[in-house]
Amino acid sequence: MSEKAVGIDAMEIHTGTLRLDLAETYAPAKDDDPGKYTKGLGLFASSFPDVYEDIVTMGANAARRLLERRGLTPADIGRIDVATESSFDNSKPVSTYIAGCLEQVYDEDFHHANKGERKFACISGTQSLDDAYNWIRAGRNRGRKALVVATDTALYERGDPGEATQGAGAVAMLISEDPDLVELSTAQGYGSADETDFLKPNQQFPSVDGKRSVQVYLARMREALMDYESVAGDTHPDDFALVPFHTPFPGMVRKAALLGFRHVARDTEYEDRLAEEIGRQPRREAFDDVGAFQDALSEYTDALAETDVYRDWYAETVEPTLELSRYCGNWYTGSVHVARASGLLEAAEAGRDLAGARLLVGSYGSGAQAEIHHETIQPGWADSIRALAVKDRLRDRYDLSFEEYERIHDAHNHEKETDVDALTTPDGEFVFDGWGRMGERKYRYV
Ligand code: CAA
Repeated sequence: MSEKAVGIDAMEIHTGTLRLDLAETYAPAKDDDPGKYTKGLGLFASSFPDVYEDIVTMGANAARRLLERRGLTPADIGRIDVATESSFDNSKPVSTYIAGCLEQVYDEDFHHANKGERKFACISGTQSLDDAYNWIRAGRNRGRKALVVATDTALYERGDPGEATQGAGAVAMLISEDPDLVELSTAQGYGSADETDFLKPNQQFPSVDGKRSVQVYLARMREALMDYESVAGDTHPDDFALVPFHTPFPGMVRKAALLGFRHVARDTEYEDRLAEEIGRQPRREAFDDVGAFQDALSEYTDALAETDVYRDWYAETVEPTLELSRYCGNWYTGSVHVARASGLLEAAEAGRDLAGARLLVGSYGSGAQAEIHHETIQPGWADSIRALAVKDRLRDRYDLSFEEYERIHDAHNHEKETDVDALTTPDGEFVFDGWGRMGERKYRYV
């Protein structure tokens, strides 16, 4: 097999057109301190879909802009993989609906593209990237590219603790040989176990054990890092320019990054530099009792979080990946891809020269599985990422009052019969256009 570079050539992000401000609108309605959301969870706002938006319209709108920007037509695309945990059909994949939308605006069709839908909670976006990567590396693509779309309406039952972390949007990615943005590594690590932390057994809104889900995320991510190191070799804090994680809310990443840094800094000059200030990391063999070891480790970790060494590393490597997520909430399958885009966008705006540098990407899906791989930033990265107009789109969202938020939430609740008017007017995009004779959802380009 030839060692061709395969990775993400370009991406597009489509946000739901509505916005709920967590500090100004949500916190007062819940009688909560805004700091719980802005400081604790690290979130300022969530994206919501208007009544004419859903996983198909958001995915198709992101995909159309991506194809248009790259001057591509359906004949250039050999695969359409959609990752979602908000699917509304147990048989017909969302990719067929998205292809149907796109065929309304192109003269050609996607009849020779392989289409599918991937499910494993939030990690299925990354699994779809893997599928596309493997297809191209296996030489089965006939020179064509793959379109991967991660699209979700991440809504929780009203009153659920997860409600504050909601979001809705889609990320479309073009996977190709000689990519402009990042090359994916063959090396990857997994942490996977049968867990009951977050699930939707034939129901729209998730059943969530929130506190446990945080612990499962950390445990699986740790396993994935060790597995990754077993193939890629030991990691070092300076190996990676950015570390995008799956971001259900930035506070989750704050916890994961601290544990990750502690692991990769062990036995490096970082540990030596920190030793004077907070001592060396406790080692298990130095303790008779596991409880005493865990207490010492937790004390060390708390002290580590307060050091300039850690804070500087975090500010440069992790903080930029959280910028978009703070204003759009959790997009489930798209979340880690929003984090990658955010980190690269912030780096491009700051004028960082990252060609040839590496990202360490940590994906996670409840149920549960984490995956870690690295990506090498390509020479064309800055132009490719600057083409994203995501910040303008986030800024232009309609700001919901709490009453409007409740109405919109009801309008998207499959159990409720509602007749809610749209709050925005679609223009140059795909919209939901009612039901067909077999119960299928229909779409129109307006
Ligand atoms: N000022 C500053 N910080 C404050 C504060 C204030 N006034 N009030 C609270 N906080 C802090 C808390 O100390 C806490 O921080 P720590 O965890 O660091 O202690 C943080 O804000 C959140 O407060 P609570 O823990 O009290 O919040 P909660 O219990 O209401 O909800 C949650 C938290 C359980 C994570 C909830 O948001 C949830 O269920 N979310 C959905 C599940 C989820 O996202 N899990 C993440 C891992 S699973 C995953 O990643 C898959 C996925 O996408 C869903």
